[in-house]
Amino acid sequence: MTQSLLKVLSGEPVNPPPVWFMRQAGRHLPEYMKIRATARDFIDFCFSPNKAAEVTLQPIRRYDMDAAILFADILLVPIALGRDVRFVKGTGPVLDPLKVEDIAKLGNDMDVLKPVYETVSRVRAELDDHKTLIGFCGGPWTVATYMIEGRGSPTKEIPKRFAYDHIQEMDELLSRLADASADYLIEQAKAGADALKIFESWAEGLPPQQFDRLVIAPTRQIIDRVRAAGITKPIIGFPRGAGLNALRYARELDIQCCAAGTDVPLKAFRQSVPDGMAIQGNLDPLALRMGGDVLRHAVQNVLDTASGPHIFNLGHGVTPDVKIENVHAVISHIRTGSGNYV
Ligand code: CP3
Repeated sequence: MTQSLLKVLSGEPVNPPPVWFMRQAGRHLPEYMKIRATARDFIDFCFSPNKAAEVTLQPIRRYDMDAAILFADILLVPIALGRDVRFVKGTGPVLDPLKVEDIAKLGNDMDVLKPVYETVSRVRAELDDHKTLIGFCGGPWTVATYMIEGRGSPTKEIPKRFAYDHIQEMDELLSRLADASADYLIEQAKAGADALKIFESWAEGLPPQQFDRLVIAPTRQIIDRVRAAGITKPIIGFPRGAGLNALRYARELDIQCCAAGTDVPLKAFRQSVPDGMAIQGNLDPLALRMGGDVLRHAVQNVLDTASGPHIFNLGHGVTPDVKIENVHAVISHIRTGSGNYV
């Protein structure tokens, strides 16, 4: 096996650990901004295989990351279900808030996602054999929070109330999302993605029973469907902010890696996940923004506290204000023991 990241996902520790960053393709890169400016809007950008493939590869060329992550978005699946999704500059994603009676009327036009699979195959064709291409989807609960509230929700109170008030309809929504997300992952795997990641970015603040129902059950439905299609590629789960609920997530689901958000103590996490499971994370994105000694110490702390099969990453995504020099410094620190932080 030539991909160090796949080695880690198979349960073998690699030293130094492979590294990639969530949102490594994005607004902190001038070459990204240049291509972004040629797209009509963000969704058009995601559905333009030429452009999406190019920005997927940019961080590999610039930083020599060990993995590329498909350039797309978790909110493309609601489009396949017939919902209107827009990205508004300065606001983020805006959707028409989903009403209870809309759930029975959801569509299933998976063909709209075909350009994404084209992006995957183009990237895989251009990427070095020893680099991993990661495909992804959103966790059903996280995607549902955007669909129900119509935008990113600071407290998730509206989707949480919806889940208590409309039990059958909520379960139906999550089940529809799980099937569509699984089909999305299956096609990405068939097009050449080497590993698959499920972003449950809004897993925080759920009571355990609701976590089992809203997060674990639909995620299991995704994974069962992916495996039933004969896809054996490794899966990374990312239950961000889930606290101790993440332990059931790691133990009960057929995932090969559990990714940790910034708040997770990696030593305790390693002892709690199943033997041989890879862990990923969890550098503080704020330290990456701040640079200097704050960043140097934060990187060293991740290296010192992670053990076993580990993929170095952030606890959440790269932000537009991150300095390119500091990304280089982190990678050099991981690979050579020192970096020029600014
Ligand atoms: O580099 C990568 O990580 C790959 C591409 C990727 C994007 N979004 C591109 C993107 C991935 C894996 C995602 C996942 C995603 N999208 C998540 C889960 C991960 C996380 O960040 O928690 C979520 C919650 C979304 C939904 C979403 N997409 C939001 C809330 C926003 C607006 C926030 C912002 O930074 O503007 C987006 C837009 C988005 N998705 C951008 C990128 C690079 C910025 C758009 C731009 O260029 O203007």
